[in-house]
Amino acid sequence: MTKHLSRRALLGSAAAAGAWAAAASIAARSPKPQDPMTAADTSKPAPAASRLVRLSANENPYGPGPKARAAIAAAMPEACRYSIDSYNRLIDQLAQRENVERTSIVLGSGSGELLNMLALEYVGRGELVTAWPTFEQITTYAERLGATVRRVPLDRQMRHDLTALGSTVSANTGLLYVCNPNNPTGTVVAGETLREFCRSMANRTLVVVDEAYLDLIEPGATESMVDLARAGENVVVLRTFSKIHGLAGLRIGYGIGAAGVIKRLRRMQMAFANTLGMEAALASLNDRQFLTDTAAALAQDRARMLAACRGLGLECSDAQGNFIFVNTGMPNDQFRERMRQQQIEVGRTFEPYATWCRVTVGTTQETDRFLAALPRVAAG
Ligand SMILES: Cc1ncc(COP(=O)(O)O)c(C=O)c1O
Repeated sequence: MTKHLSRRALLGSAAAAGAWAAAASIAARSPKPQDPMTAADTSKPAPAASRLVRLSANENPYGPGPKARAAIAAAMPEACRYSIDSYNRLIDQLAQRENVERTSIVLGSGSGELLNMLALEYVGRGELVTAWPTFEQITTYAERLGATVRRVPLDRQMRHDLTALGSTVSANTGLLYVCNPNNPTGTVVAGETLREFCRSMANRTLVVVDEAYLDLIEPGATESMVDLARAGENVVVLRTFSKIHGLAGLRIGYGIGAAGVIKRLRRMQMAFANTLGMEAALASLNDRQFLTDTAAALAQDRARMLAACRGLGLECSDAQGNFIFVNTGMPNDQFRERMRQQQIEVGRTFEPYATWCRVTVGTTQETDRFLAALPRVAAG
């Protein structure tokens, strides 16, 4: 058993550097998670901005779940203390769940911080290889550090082109980033195919598999690569509490990797995770009902959105996360503006897909708003 981290060590290191098939039946059986739009405090008039339905940032509007909310309230008196106790308990719990030693887990202020730490430690002014378009955080940060980013276009189905990625990785590559499911397209690479690819690439470079949306896939669509990280391969798996757990504002993510890699990453940490976020994460991990209901509701509404878009003749990718990616047939800025006129905020543009829009699945009520506006907006 590895020793728990002391406050001094923690401060020192900081300073130094789902269920698709089950979804329908579950959704029918269980009440929907609380809808923040209907649960809002109606005693005060809502500010104008709050009437805007935000379907632009891939958040989960059902969160935090009931257990996380209770844990946040209960932890409030501890907010005057440094978060070492919560940190140790969360690392313990994650290590147990992932069946790894504590030394194989690193926490971040969201997995976004972990992506920055990876760029700092493994790329620097070197080279990063990634599919494109994908979640831009690590590429943006690496370029600010002076890195060269090699972007490999997705294939015709908007999936990672593994052959092209493999031939782009060279002796100069410090890190290969794989987002599965991919943001913004939501497409996945099948488990066995990805595992074989990661294994072969890990001999040549550090492979980072970002599994932010993995809890929101159709069962069997793809798999976690955590077994590779567990086996000590040169692979880091990233997870976040921002998506299915609905804790985006509380900034908790984690990475799983070989102890040597994790040790290097911990040295790059800019901050250490906050008490309320970690207590919420701990509670949410055990909130089975909330997680099952949320996955079911989001899967059902994603299916409704895809069916409506395809019904209007709009092409969509095979999206697996809490969002869809749709070709609206008009420049995305125009589509965004038209949606904004309907009080709906949809996603930014992901070049080179200039006429495609990423739309986040909201609550069922928010999804209804989008579906009502869509035919008008698409017709122009
Ligand atoms: C693929 C992917 N990875 C990581 C993140 C970062 O999430 P967070 O920093 O909230 O954990 C996001 C956020 O949208 C994402 O889409």
